[in-house]
Amino acid sequence: MPHRIAVVGSNMTDLVTSIVRMPAPGETVEAPAFAMGFGGKGANQAVAAARLGADVMMVTKVGDDVFGQSTIRNLQDNGIDITHVDTAAGQSSGVAPIFVDEHGENSILIIKGANNELKPADIDAAAEDLKRCDLILMQLEVPLETVYYTIAFADQHGIETILNPAPAAPDLDAGKVTKATFLVPNETELALLTGMPTGTDAEIETAARSLIAKGIRTVIVTLGSRGARLITADKATLIEPLKVQPKDTTGAGDAFIGSFARFYVEGRDVEASLRRAALYAADSITREGTQKSYADVKAFDKFIAGLGDSKAG
Ligand code: RIB
Ligand code: NA
Repeated sequence: MPHRIAVVGSNMTDLVTSIVRMPAPGETVEAPAFAMGFGGKGANQAVAAARLGADVMMVTKVGDDVFGQSTIRNLQDNGIDITHVDTAAGQSSGVAPIFVDEHGENSILIIKGANNELKPADIDAAAEDLKRCDLILMQLEVPLETVYYTIAFADQHGIETILNPAPAAPDLDAGKVTKATFLVPNETELALLTGMPTGTDAEIETAARSLIAKGIRTVIVTLGSRGARLITADKATLIEPLKVQPKDTTGAGDAFIGSFARFYVEGRDVEASLRRAALYAADSITREGTQKSYADVKAFDKFIAGLGDSKAG
């Protein structure tokens, strides 16, 4: 049986507007360009893993509207199993109005819509198929009770899990996610989760170790253009970034996590999987768009070949 990845998470339609500046209250300002794209942290991670050849199933809820229909079609087009993608009657789909200024800086609003309706009962409904998965990925654009429930379910059935605690959620109870195999926060999310400072490498390590002391096995802190740090009980390893000219960094974190999941279930060790995922994320930021910029196996192999032997993890 091929290795199977499940994503229990969100989907959104990204409404990406290029702006010169934001309007003041009561003001109307013309913006130069608009593009729609498929997004949502859950769907992004699912698509990255699927493009790299993983067998992916998504457990998610779309709304009762055109965004929901096109989201389902997009998941199918990417070869993702949609058996457990349901439509929430009377709800709008998740949408993310994203404003990108001339410096490539993003401001993102998220309206979760139907994603708020993904409940523990949906995990029960998908239980038999989830039990056949090797790894379950989660983020925080669905209710926290569903995340806690899924982690407990996976732990009970010996399935490994990745929790990406994003976007930062002040209500997240660190004590309820200690059974996750991998926790992948950025510095802000790590600070919020631990109540500790994360301004320096030493502080990041101390904060991550406080989570390990609570039971989480592996913490992977993403540091944007500075790469990532892999922290376990006895080791802290820097995953070096690949320097590229960025065009659009939206969803780079999702590219990193989705591809890491794929490389890891393929049998690589954690560090090698992360090094390869850093390259995958770097490649994605050299192109416009989120899912649109995620390479498939062929394009990624070509990208790796172009780097020469030294970097091809
Ligand atoms: O991580 C990037 C994603 O966050 C975007 O696609 C947007 O949908 C928001 O959820
Ligand atoms: Na991109």
